[in-house]
Amino acid sequence: MNRRKKIYEGKAKILYEGPEPGTLIQYFKDDATAFNAQKKAVLEGKGVLNNRISEFVMTRLNSIGVQNHFIKRLNLREQLIREVEIIPLEVVCRNIAAGSMSERFGLPEGQALPRSIIEFYFKDDKLGDPLVTEEHITAFNWASTQEIDDMLATTLRVNDYLSGMFGAVGITLVDFKIEYGRLWEGDFARVILADEISPDSCRLWDATTNEKLDKDRFRRDMGGVIESYTEVARRLGIMKDMPRVIEGGVA
Ligand code: TMP
Ligand code: ASP
Repeated sequence: MNRRKKIYEGKAKILYEGPEPGTLIQYFKDDATAFNAQKKAVLEGKGVLNNRISEFVMTRLNSIGVQNHFIKRLNLREQLIREVEIIPLEVVCRNIAAGSMSERFGLPEGQALPRSIIEFYFKDDKLGDPLVTEEHITAFNWASTQEIDDMLATTLRVNDYLSGMFGAVGITLVDFKIEYGRLWEGDFARVILADEISPDSCRLWDATTNEKLDKDRFRRDMGGVIESYTEVARRLGIMKDMPRVIEGGVA
C-alpha cells in the first residue's frame, strides 16, 4: 500500500520521502491524541480537514512573506513540503489565558492576557514537552540566539496575521503552537515555519459565544470534534473543496 519510503511517523502525521531531493510528503492521519498520547481516538475526516486548513493557512502566510515548508497539496490527505531540520521546540503564542497557562498561573480561562506571550517547550514526548527558557535552549544548543530572535519575531507576525484572519470570520485565536525548521542553503540555515497550523494546534473560539472549535473538544470529551473543524473550514470558505467530508464519507 505504501509506495514511498516512510521517513518519520508522528502522532497525527506521517512523513514520506518526496519526489525530489529536499522534499517530503506530509500525510495527515485521522488519529487524535492528547495528554502525551495517553488518550487516543480515530476521528474520521480529521486528517482531510487539517490537510486543507493547514494548506490554506500556510498559503496565506506565504503570501505575506512568512516563509514556510508548504509547497502544494497533493490530494485529500497529503501535501508536498520542503524538507527541513526540525528545531526541537514547540513555540506557543497566547492571547487569552487557557489550558496550561490557566493552570500554571491560576488564571481564569478566557481572561485576556496583558500582551501576547510566547513560550518555548522542549519537544520530547518522554519528558512530556517541558516548558523551557532561552537559557536552556542556547545552553543545550537546540537553537542559537539569532534563531530564537527570528522565531519570536515570526511568531508575533503569525499571531497578528492569523488573529485578523480568524477574527474576520468570527473566530477568536486564543493561542496556538507552531514549529520551525532549518532550511539549509550551503553553510547557511534559514529558519522557516514547518509542521501544521490547524484546529489540532490552535485554540479557536467562536467570537460571539466562545464555543470551542478546536482540539479541546477532544481533550475534554465535549464531542462534536469533526463538526467544529468543519465549521472552521466552512468559515474560512474552503469547505466547497471537500464535499465528501460534510457527508461523513471520507475516502
Ligand atoms: P497548552 O495550553 O496545553 O499548553 O496548549 C497551548 C497551545 O498549544 C494550544 O493551542 C494547543 C497547542 N498544543 C499543541 O499543538 N500540541 C501539544 O502537544 C500541546 C500540549 C498543545
Ligand atoms: N498532541 C499531544 C499528545 O498527543 C497533546 C495535545 O495536543 O494535547 O499527546
